[in-house]
Amino acid sequence: MEAPGCHGDKRLSVEVVPDEESAGIEEIVRIGTRLQDKRAENDASQDGKVLRGVHAKSHGCVRAEFTIREDIAEDLRVGLFACPGKTHEAWIRFSNAAVLREDDLKAGKDGIRQNGSRGMAIKVMDVDGEMLSQDNGGHNQDFLLINTPMFAFANVRDYLRLEKILDRDPLGADPTAYFLPAVLASLGPEVDGEDSAITQKRQFLQDMVARDPLLSGLSAQDLKGTIASAKVAAAIAQKTVRNPMEVQYFGAAPFLFGPGRVMKFSVAPREPVEQEPFDTITSDIPAPDYLQDAVRNTMQGDTILEYDFMVQTRNEGEDGLNIEDATTIWEGELAGYIPVATISVHAPQTPHGAVEAEHCERLAFNPWHSLSAHRPLGGINRLRKPVYFSSASHRGADGY
Ligand code: HEM
Repeated sequence: MEAPGCHGDKRLSVEVVPDEESAGIEEIVRIGTRLQDKRAENDASQDGKVLRGVHAKSHGCVRAEFTIREDIAEDLRVGLFACPGKTHEAWIRFSNAAVLREDDLKAGKDGIRQNGSRGMAIKVMDVDGEMLSQDNGGHNQDFLLINTPMFAFANVRDYLRLEKILDRDPLGADPTAYFLPAVLASLGPEVDGEDSAITQKRQFLQDMVARDPLLSGLSAQDLKGTIASAKVAAAIAQKTVRNPMEVQYFGAAPFLFGPGRVMKFSVAPREPVEQEPFDTITSDIPAPDYLQDAVRNTMQGDTILEYDFMVQTRNEGEDGLNIEDATTIWEGELAGYIPVATISVHAPQTPHGAVEAEHCERLAFNPWHSLSAHRPLGGINRLRKPVYFSSASHRGADGY
């Protein structure tokens, strides 16, 4: 029998597509391919290999089971969640969101190592219902999550500015200039009697911004986006992850939940472990690959790790949905998630074994590998459609 809500493929009226968007998306795809090539060529650690456009470094790849909860509320039995008790096989890849396979605590310009964004990608195998796109011939529902509820870029316009800035770097990896207008704005106007170091810093930044064609003459909207990005980047830097299997992740962008409803999703361990900031961070403590080590250790045990897959939904047309701005969260969002499925990961497994590593390397996780009922929404998700297919095909993955 067909699941209810499988035909929610229409564009919601809450989506507002700027005129310039499709040209911006095409340019981002072109630049993205070039960046993959540059990194393959110039980053010695890649050894000439073309990798994912972002999230290139894996922390581990594990098999899992994804089971719809028996007690799921009637009104949440939509799309993937239509059949209580149904279990699907799944694969999970934990990753570092950085574009290069580098130190998990990458040093900033000041030389201080700091936290970065972390990813969890889930591929739920063999789902029933109408798909938006197939995955290597299969019907799989992918969920891609990061460890903050907000994404660092509001929309296609801001992402294009970032991408052009990355394109100027030989490794396609230095975003610093993108944030300079926000740093400048944070200094405010000059005030009587201010510290001369602040005055000099403002002048220095003003000169840099004025000289840079990608930064001078930003509109008020662009500046707002840059400031929002800087806030999310600061939140990411504050978020210590000691073990990527012990923390909560968020889909960050909005998705459809059957006709006329919008969802956000999140995954949290049933038994979360407080991730205390490190007492000491030196140049090699914790180790550059400490997140892989944490996954390896966790999976050496003899245990079952359980996670709640959670959603929250709002109706089309409600105020504050912010479909077109991925740097925002909904009012009351963090308290509003309802468990709808259980993810079980059985240890022991070898998340970095040759078979697992190669398997996840070849997989393509993509938010558009999705049931129509859970269609990705908003500008950042519209952008992701060609970008993920392009990144995966360019690196020779399966199923893009
Ligand atoms: C809500 C916003 C986003 C979230 C939560 C997210 C999350 C993720 C995660 C977890 C992965 C790793 C997948 C894996 O393990 O294979 C990934 C991969 C990727 N993401 Fe995103 N991402 C977001 C937005 C974007 C945007 C705006 C872009 C660029 C336009 C982008 C480009 C990519 C690319 C190129 C890959 C690698 C695709 C491949 O080669 O398979 N992402 N993303």
